[in-house]
Amino acid sequence: MLLENQVVVISGVGPGLGRGLALQCARAGADVVLAARNALRLAEVAKEVAQLGRRAVPVEADITDDAACQRMVDTALESFGRVDGLVHNAFAIPPLTDLATVDLEAVRAAFETNVLAALHLTRLFTPALVEQSGSIVMINSAVLRHSRRTFGAYKMSKAALLALAQSLSTELGPQGVRVNTVAPGYIWADNLKWYFDYLAKKRGVSAQEVYDENAVTLDLRKLPEPDEVADAVVFMLSPLARAVTGQCLDVNGGEWHH
Ligand SMILES: NC(=O)c1ccc[n+]([C@@H]2O[C@H](COP(=O)([O-])OP(=O)(O)OC[C@H]3O[C@@H](n4cnc5c(N)ncnc54)[C@H](OP(=O)(O)O)[C@@H]3O)[C@@H](O)[C@H]2O)c1
Repeated sequence: MLLENQVVVISGVGPGLGRGLALQCARAGADVVLAARNALRLAEVAKEVAQLGRRAVPVEADITDDAACQRMVDTALESFGRVDGLVHNAFAIPPLTDLATVDLEAVRAAFETNVLAALHLTRLFTPALVEQSGSIVMINSAVLRHSRRTFGAYKMSKAALLALAQSLSTELGPQGVRVNTVAPGYIWADNLKWYFDYLAKKRGVSAQEVYDENAVTLDLRKLPEPDEVADAVVFMLSPLARAVTGQCLDVNGGEWHH
């Protein structure tokens, strides 16, 4: 049990990786604090965690709201008295449009969620994390590895998140807190399944064909599933990674080599 009796806070629990993180942390022995805006989904994931024999405390929160972030800290400490891990999974995708024309307000909004909220939450959780010699993981993206058209604004925000993780590692390392990044590529979950179905219908081919066309671009010929990405995060949070900080682990089936 890599996270036996630890407490992990996850910001941004959706149906994809967020749910996978909650379940894999629980399977590794952790209790979890789950934050997002959709209370119904939080309750569903919390129920699944409970079925695994661990405690899950949902906190309905918009992480761009200062008071909501403080509520996450208060709830975590009141419920468990400690925090060992913080995972920043929440993200906002700015419009997938060229930088020449992208709406700047939308880019600012993406930075609020993807970068500034991650910094704000880290600041608020730092005292508790220092007490446990804890660990932070920022969820990034394979967008770091390419500069394809229309991804510019998303890449800007995720590149800033990587810079944030690296600089926080320098600042918090002397206090015993590790800060790392996990960068998934494809995640074979609801969003991508829906998109491949849409492409298949549009082109008059099967969804399996669309899957195969994409999978063949990965060394492992298989799109990573949420639990497979989450396991890399569990590793980063665990004592197995006790000498690892300031690093970025790509979990992409070999799509990009880094
Ligand atoms: N999906 C992919 O293929 C893919 C690929 C590479 C990297 N990633 C990265 O992996 C991470 C997870 O992606 P995912 O697609 O699997 O998402 P997910 O875990 O299914 O959901 C993330 C959740 O974050 C929550 N969130 C967004 N803004 C928030 C805010 N202001 N406050 C609180 N919660 C907020 C949303 O829930 P509410 O609406 O309920 O708040 C959303 O459902 C992201 O960091 C993403 O950049 C994803």
